[in-house]
Amino acid sequence: MTADIRIRRRTLVLYSALLCLALLAFVSTNSSFQCSDTSGVGAGVSHTRGADADADPPSALPPLPRPQPLTHTRSGCVPRERQHDPDLPMIYAITPTYTRPVQKAELTRLAQTLMWLDNFHWIVVEDSDTKTPLVESFLLQTNLEYTHLVARTKKNKQLKPTARGVEQRNAGLDWLRKNLHNDDQLNGVVFFMDDDNTYSLQIFEEMRLVRKVGVWPVGLVGGMMVERPLVDSSGTKVLGFNSVWRPERPFPIDMAGFAINLHLLKKHPNAVFTHKVQAGYQESEILRQLITKDELEPLADKCTKVYVWHTRTEKPKMNEENKLRAKNPKGSNDGLEV
Ligand code: UGA
Ligand code: MN
Repeated sequence: MTADIRIRRRTLVLYSALLCLALLAFVSTNSSFQCSDTSGVGAGVSHTRGADADADPPSALPPLPRPQPLTHTRSGCVPRERQHDPDLPMIYAITPTYTRPVQKAELTRLAQTLMWLDNFHWIVVEDSDTKTPLVESFLLQTNLEYTHLVARTKKNKQLKPTARGVEQRNAGLDWLRKNLHNDDQLNGVVFFMDDDNTYSLQIFEEMRLVRKVGVWPVGLVGGMMVERPLVDSSGTKVLGFNSVWRPERPFPIDMAGFAINLHLLKKHPNAVFTHKVQAGYQESEILRQLITKDELEPLADKCTKVYVWHTRTEKPKMNEENKLRAKNPKGSNDGLEV
């Protein structure tokens, strides 16, 4: 019986000793963690963090690391300062655009390409009766040189619109003809820059030097990987085109595949786009009024490079948004410009 009690007492002492050891170990680990953390804040991360840590209320737990403030990058937040070089021909790009869910995303992608260009003027023409606040404030914050116009696509039963962008591009051409007069102002080109395509910076540098009309390949258009002018062995003359869709067109190329010299445009004051031609004939319609095929200037390394793609943006699905708006007309973007 007594031996039994002694064994129990020994066991109790042993357990107490183990508990004490465990407690000691815990306390020492905790204090060493606090110590290394404090030194980490001061030495490892940054002195700003150290000052922050001082201001924190005392707590048993080490302070959580805070994210560092981001350094504003030139491309991210501060618009690039553009230069004007009086010897460099100007590019006037006409962009028709219309209100839809992806509009701001499209314009953002374009503006962030255009911000790298000097001697560039963006003519943005809204398919609308009035300027929309979205486009107006968007253009203001780009720091680009631009003109903001409106021209609504006519809804006329007799003259059913066969093409998109007709009224808008004509409004842009009209602005150019009315605003550019002397040789200095006409030193440059006009380019029809739809809002949903993808443009490499190279294409802009190529098109500046066009004397009449420059042409080049366009990727992902006409149901093919690329539509391109076919050139002679010297690479200076256009012999034909590889287009398969409506190859009988006088100029079977896409709107993104050419640029026109401003002198030539001014010389032909009546050259415009029209709904009176069949689908796919807009490019031929304007070009046939300005030039013949043998005068075209092949660009993009003798038409061997693709610097522009006819990327059409997928229309986003709005099924959940529509369900939401059936209950609350404000929708998911109430007070938020998307
Ligand atoms: C193709 C060509 O690439 C266009 O240049 C041509 O205008 C068009 O066909 C056509 O002949 O209809 P596609 O991708 O089918 O292009 O046309 P969109 O990109 O939808 O429209 C061309 C331009 O017009 C875009 O900049 C677009 O924002 C604008 N647009 C479109 C409007 O201003 N209003 C509209 O209702 C639709
Ligand atoms: Mn398009």
